[in-house]
Amino acid sequence: MNATGVRIAGVGHHVPKGVLTNADLERMLDTSDEWITTRTGMKERHIATVEEPTSEIALGAARQAIASAGIEAKDLNCIIVATVTPDYPFPATACILGAKLNVPGVPAFDIEIACSGFIYGLTVASSLVRTGVFKRVLLVGAEELSRIINYDDRSTAVLFGDGAGAVVLEASETDSFLSSELGADGTDPKNLYVEVGGTALPPICAADIEGKRNKVVMNGREVFRFAVTKMIEATNVALEHAGLTAKDVTWLIPHQANRRIIDAAAKHLDLPSDRVIVNIDRYGNTSAASIPIALSETVASGKLKDGDVVLFVGFGGGLSWGAVAWRWNGTVKASMNGKVGG
Ligand code: UT7
Repeated sequence: MNATGVRIAGVGHHVPKGVLTNADLERMLDTSDEWITTRTGMKERHIATVEEPTSEIALGAARQAIASAGIEAKDLNCIIVATVTPDYPFPATACILGAKLNVPGVPAFDIEIACSGFIYGLTVASSLVRTGVFKRVLLVGAEELSRIINYDDRSTAVLFGDGAGAVVLEASETDSFLSSELGADGTDPKNLYVEVGGTALPPICAADIEGKRNKVVMNGREVFRFAVTKMIEATNVALEHAGLTAKDVTWLIPHQANRRIIDAAAKHLDLPSDRVIVNIDRYGNTSAASIPIALSETVASGKLKDGDVVLFVGFGGGLSWGAVAWRWNGTVKASMNGKVGG
């Protein structure tokens, strides 16, 4: 196998057109725009229709990333989808995406590690390219959390949205991948999980559906504490592995779970807010899609310059966490300038 470098050659994102605002949630639940805004930074999120399964919004993001990379789908050597909301329990949504891209035969698999999915995926996909296994990999973070949210539970209903973000990674003479730090601790998975529908309990029954046991349950305060701690730790370790410090970071692109989590971590890392990418007000928490959506928007804004150091950091169910330090390499054109739809 030939060792090579890797770069991001294309980016894209796609969110469904339907929007759920804080005002809508006020009508549905005992909550307020004031509470949601001050406690989370969220204003609205996009929600998919029943005609738009995860593979469909993944397709929108994938098409943009492929166009942005200036390639065709047939040039891809591997497709990876990071999701906890697949079209079906199996097969992998990546396989369905490959069919929708009309490239049957291209290897495809999913990564299921919740909101850390893009960070894990970026590490895996980069490794596949850097070791010469594949020349070009499409990595998509795509989620429809709305399908597994209990809209009677105000502590989770206000937080999540649907969306997809994608990158095309390709072999390169120069190497963008600087380091990765990943972690997971399944000691208490119930801090953030869906109870039924897997093999740990008897098959899902009518009472489970009635009791909303097939929907997300979260210990918000515990996850909040964990998130801030792990964002800081993972960022520092990834930077250390890359021989860098927080001062070298041009852009922090964090998982968008809560504005207060992002602000607390950035403050501790001494990163000024104008170097931290936040779009949580418009999308809420889109799990594995939040980082690639934020990246795609950052590219579309023209902010990212050749040589910039980008620090991607995420955390989520598992519990799991991770950070990747990345040197932005070359010029990437945003497809459609990050417009919704597609
Ligand atoms: O993607 C990774 C996974 N998710 C996360 O990273 C989320 C991490 N956690 C959080 O973001 C925050 O913990 C939440 C946004 C979930 C909650 O914010 P908080 O400041 O930690 O609130 P809390 O859970 O301590 O609750 C404070 C109060 C409670 O009322 P009492 O007991 O003080 O009377 C809650 O019942 O806020 C109440 N509350 C709400 N009130 C209005 C909880 N949700 C809502 C709501 N609207 N939507």
